[in-house]
Parts: sequence; C-alpha cells; structure tokens
Amino acid sequence: MAKVKIIETALRDAHQSLIATRMRTEDMVPILEDMDDIGYFSLEAWGGATFDSCIRFLNEDPWERLRTFKEHVTKTPLQMLLRGQNLVGYKHYADDVVKAFVEKSYENGVDVFRVFDALNDSRNMKVSIKTAKEQGAYVQGALSYTISPVHTIDTFVDFAKELEAMECDAVTIKDMAGLITPSMASQLVTALKDETDLDVNLHSHCTSGLTLMSYQAAIDAGVDIVDTAISPFAGGTAQPPTESVVAALQGTEYDTGLDLDKLNIVGEYFAEVFKKYQALVDPLASKVDADVLRYQVPGGMLSNLVSQLKQQDALEKYQDVLDEIPHVREDLGYPPLVTPTSQIVGVQSVFNVLMGERYANITKEVKEYLKGAYGRSPAPINQELYKKANGDEEPITCRPADLLEPELENARREAEEKGLVKSEEDVLTYALYPTVAEKFLKGEAVAEEIPTVEENTGSSNGFTEIPTSFDVEVDGEEFEVHVKPTGTMVIDPSGNGGQDQPADGLKSAMQGMIVKLKVKVGDNVNEGDVVAVLEAMKMENDVKSDKTGQITQIYINEGDTVEKGDVLMKIE
Ligand code: CO
Repeated sequence: MAKVKIIETALRDAHQSLIATRMRTEDMVPILEDMDDIGYFSLEAWGGATFDSCIRFLNEDPWERLRTFKEHVTKTPLQMLLRGQNLVGYKHYADDVVKAFVEKSYENGVDVFRVFDALNDSRNMKVSIKTAKEQGAYVQGALSYTISPVHTIDTFVDFAKELEAMECDAVTIKDMAGLITPSMASQLVTALKDETDLDVNLHSHCTSGLTLMSYQAAIDAGVDIVDTAISPFAGGTAQPPTESVVAALQGTEYDTGLDLDKLNIVGEYFAEVFKKYQALVDPLASKVDADVLRYQVPGGMLSNLVSQLKQQDALEKYQDVLDEIPHVREDLGYPPLVTPTSQIVGVQSVFNVLMGERYANITKEVKEYLKGAYGRSPAPINQELYKKANGDEEPITCRPADLLEPELENARREAEEKGLVKSEEDVLTYALYPTVAEKFLKGEAVAEEIPTVEENTGSSNGFTEIPTSFDVEVDGEEFEVHVKPTGTMVIDPSGNGGQDQPADGLKSAMQGMIVKLKVKVGDNVNEGDVVAVLEAMKMENDVKSDKTGQITQIYINEGDTVEKGDVLMKIE
C-alpha cells in the first residue's frame, strides 16, 4: 500500500500564514504529546519566521522552544524550514555561521531540515544541506515553485537532480503561493518520481482555492508526503486541512493510516487556541484570492502592494502595478516570487508606476540582484537594465557567500563584550539578528500583547481601517502577512514635513524616510546627481537632482519622514 505521509504544519507554517507567527510556546505545549501520538511523518515546528518572531515579538528564546518540543515529542521527527544561506534571516550569512547554526539546530532537536533558496540556486543551499546531512538529519531540498517560461518540468527536474547529487533525501515542491494546478502537480510529481530516487513532498497553500484538487492529483501521481494543517489553522493562506486529507484517502490505496478521532482531539484544542489569536487574522487571508490565479502573484505580495500603495496615497494605481510586475520579473530573469525576490520585484514595480517611467529610480536591492548578489537568476537578466543600474561594474559570478569573510568569531566577541552570551546558541542568535538579539538577550524585550477582536474593530469603522494602523509586511520566507504596530507617522516638529512648505523645488516622488542626505547648502550639483537616499517600502532609493545648479535651501534632515510631493530642497 502506497501510504501517503503527512507533515503537520500547525506549529510553524500555518500560524505563520494566518496569525503572523505569533503563537506562543505555552499554547503549543499542552497538545504536543497528543500530536506525537498521531503518527505524522513529522511536525513542522521551527524555522521560517518563528525564530525572528520569538525574539522580536514574543520575548521567547527560540532554542528553548525547540528543546521544550523535544521533551514532549519523543516519537515524531521535528522539522524546520531553513532559507539556505539565509538560515532564518533575510540575508546571506557566512559559511561558518551557516554551519554552526545547522549543527546547533540538530543538537537542540531538529530531525528534518527543509532547505530552499529563493532563486533555486543550489550554491546557496549546499553548505546547509551538507552540514545537515553530516549530522545525520533527513534533508528535504525544496524547489521554489513558480510559473514562467523558464520554469518547466525539465528545469525543475534538473534542479531536483542537483539536490539528489547533494544527497538530499527528498525533494519538496514548495508552492508558497498556492499556484500549482492539478495537472501541473500531476506532471511534476510524475517526472520527479521517474527521474530521481528522492521522496517527493508537496507543500502548498490554499490561497488560490486550487490546492485540495492539486493534492489529489499529486497523490494519484505517487507523491510520498503532503503538508497539511489541523483544521482550525487550515485553509486561506495556510495549508489544506489535515482531517480532510486523511478522510479523503481513507480506504483507498493511499490511506494515511491516521486516526480521525485522535485528530479531533488535536483539532478541538487548536480551535480554542485560534480564538485567542483571532484578532490577528487578516479577513482576506482566510478567503480564496482569485487574483492569485490571474496574476500568478502570491497572495501575501498582493496585500503588501495594497498596503504600500495606500501608504503612497496611490491605491488607484493598483492595476497598473499588477500589469508592471511581469515586465520587471522578466527583466530580472523570472525569479520565483518568494522573499526576498517578491519584495524586490514588487517595490520596483511600484516605483516604475509611481515615477511614470520604467527604472527612473532603481532600488539598491534591484541593483544588487542584477549584479548577482542574491545568486543566479533563472533566466538571463536584461543587459540594458544591468548597464543602467550598475554601469561598467563586473557582475558577481561566483557563489555569493564566497565573498563573505567568516562572521562567527566577530559576532562572539561583540556579544561577549556586551555581556550577552550565556550559551553558544546566544552567539548564533546574535550573529543572525544583532539589533533585535541584543535587546532580547539583555532581557529588555517585552512580549507584545495579543490584540483582542474588540480592540481591532471597536476603534475603527471596521476592517478597512486596520491597514492604516498596522504595517503589513511580507515576512522573510513565505508570503504570510506580518502585522506589527508602527504607530502614526512622525511629522518633523520643525515643520519641514508639513504645510508651510514652498511650492517650488525638488519634490519627493513618494512617502518615506530620508536615511541619507548627501548634499549641503551651497553645493553644486548636476542633473541626475544623488542628493539624498529615501527609504520607502523598506527599500533604499536614490533621490536625484532634477536640474543642474546650486543647493540654496534644504528642508529635510536625516531621519525625517516625508510625504509624496513634499519639497526636499531648492536647487537654483
Ligand atoms: Co509555506
């Protein structure tokens, strides 16, 4: 009997997808032993955004969470999601940090590692995969699933063969946007089963509404493992419901063998937990998002765009941005849209539309991407754009992490000097997130309150106002929406950001914060010179002089928040 195995995601992806990764360890512990009895292939319980969320929002030590899981879960393997060279962060770390992190993760209780890279560049995955294998872990190499002219069954299979050559035990089709159709799932699973000896695992999200059909197609094609979430945390931007998949396969040759009565106990428990966090659920995150099907853009990225356009007071440009995304993506060589590439493509598309001209302003991240700093693009990039962004600078053709000096000992020294280190794990926490970790390790972090539904709806006219008081950002790995209070916009009390501004001068093309002022009064500038750097939508953008002349007035300081249309300086 070809039994289908189940990975339960309630402890990681499902709450990352639906409640911004805010579930506390104390809400998981009481049910762990029951979950351990179910007979899952594994419990996905760590990594992804959970590490960041623990130290940033929950004042919890992620390592301790892992050890606690291990005390209660003795039969079922614990699984983590690892972003290749980015580990559980948002940038490439040096190999020594990657190696130490994987070793400690294993030592503290991770049995199954799922490793992926946003560009499917295996060079960004090899150190983590190799280290995990050396520890004796079961390793899934993930292919970031996307749709483009260069992402075909053949290219995915070639990539899976690379993963097999790196000694992965399984290949995971990581469909973070829920884009995979039943026929594609069937073809891809069939090809992967035929062409490799790897276990094949399908991981998807219900965003597009297709997913249960695609799971069935994958199962019929011989998929070994599927990812599901216990029903209270299933559907919407999370995984399909565990109970439904188990019930659907009962009595067939694919029967999971899991007991629905036992699952019911777990389900009832999580239904209560869900109530506690209900206010964090974006109502859109639990609905089918048909735009995902039309634009093949992940749901979280769409909600992120809406929030960015609202911030820029340009929501009417939404359709234009959706139309612009495929152009930018093509110019960048069709990267799968997963963090960080979803953010890079999304923000550049917004800029292209807001500026009324394609690439009038190229973000620092796009420049770096074009250069190869994130790895190899799936298809060649637009060479004209490269020239425009980076001039005659040589692209990076080696593995990006080869350019990084070892980082661990520096981090250790710094953390020790600051008195932050009580364990080797603390050194790693610091190496990954120096700023957030410092506060956390000093004991200065405070767990945020869980908002109540009344708080979130009572003070406003309903859900439509939530995005104005919450900053919606795509987290580092999936497309799940993170909600974090940012307060109101700061207007410089000196009046520079306000009303008493001259009507003439160099204006800001968008809302954002001035992070660098590169000129002073009296400087001479040429048209096109960079006079300031504006951070908008979490990307840095050059502000360029619109004429040649002398700076006669500057109305802004570094750190100021400016509105779209604010006059920044006068050039005469
Ligand atoms: Co996912």
